[in-house]
Amino acid sequence: MSIRLAHQEIAPNVVLAPMAGITDLPFRRLVSRFGAGLVVSEMVASQEMVQAKPGVRERAELGFGETRSAVQLAGRDPYWIAEAARMVEANGARIIDINMGCPAKKVVGGLSGSALMRDLDLALRLVEAVVAAVSVPVTLKTRLGWDHDCLNASELGSRAADAGVQMLTVHGRTRCQFYKGRADWAAIAPVVDALDIPVLANGDICNGPDARAALAASGAAGVMVGRGAQGRPWALAEIATDLHGQPAPQVPEGRDFVDMVEDHHKDMLGFYGASLGLRVARKHLGWYMDTANTPAALRREVLTAAAPAQVHALLPLALDAHAEMAA
Ligand SMILES: Cc1cc2nc3c(=O)[nH]c(=O)nc-3n(C[C@H](O)[C@H](O)[C@H](O)COP(=O)(O)O)c2cc1C
Repeated sequence: MSIRLAHQEIAPNVVLAPMAGITDLPFRRLVSRFGAGLVVSEMVASQEMVQAKPGVRERAELGFGETRSAVQLAGRDPYWIAEAARMVEANGARIIDINMGCPAKKVVGGLSGSALMRDLDLALRLVEAVVAAVSVPVTLKTRLGWDHDCLNASELGSRAADAGVQMLTVHGRTRCQFYKGRADWAAIAPVVDALDIPVLANGDICNGPDARAALAASGAAGVMVGRGAQGRPWALAEIATDLHGQPAPQVPEGRDFVDMVEDHHKDMLGFYGASLGLRVARKHLGWYMDTANTPAALRREVLTAAAPAQVHALLPLALDAHAEMAA
């Protein structure tokens, strides 16, 4: 149920996926509190972080005592990614993950993310630069390949492992699939077979049965979960319970759910400041209201509220069917 890296253990073997605009410090903190083996930051652009471009360093922010956080770096220049790696290690990152899976045109156009699957020599130079720069474990996240004619995750993974990468996550889609169709967990199996390092299976894993099926089909050492945790920060802990029979998380209901969402909202306002925080929080509130089946009119009111106090006044009614309207 655990994954061993040098001097570190990931237990349980259920990891929160990096998601830009979503897995910020407040969300990672919340998911960690319910239980996750590891949580991964949003992708952080290396050069922009080292050069302190506005809003970039916040993505790599780690809380005090944060022991289960990896920071994910993206980049295409070995110098900048190594500098960024040194910086995030000095700030307390326990693991540094390198992004070679992001399909976004903005990222691929800059020849980072999954574009690196078409230039393995450059990908390897980035890996070598990061491994040489830091002493914490370095991991890699990738897709099956660029497209179905270029399924090279095994080649990338084994060259990266030879260069010192300690764990590989494979999203069971190609870059050209973006997020379409279903993730192919069985297609991850050859990568697992080819490598001596642990592999995480990723893509469309939302609950315990999904996780068991993904592990059975791929033979992976663990799972990485992204969208399944949106609006359900306890999802990873529930998956770990299903896989290993460990104590089930206390899934908050009624007033407890409202309290959890209010605390998450306040944490976001504190982290981003009220004005930006209010906007960033809306997508999380939308997912919480999906979970709670909030009626459409009330949902709209919450998502257009212009002041934190207004949001907090509406949340009990929006999230708890039994709540009384505040006088
Ligand atoms: C909104 C969004 C943002 C994402 N941002 C990143 C990112 O910053 N780095 C990365 O490696 N993958 C990123 N991903 C991909 C996820 O980490 C994950 O591989 C993908 O969503 C499949 O897993 P899931 O089905 O469990 O969500 C992102 C995905 C989404 C939906």
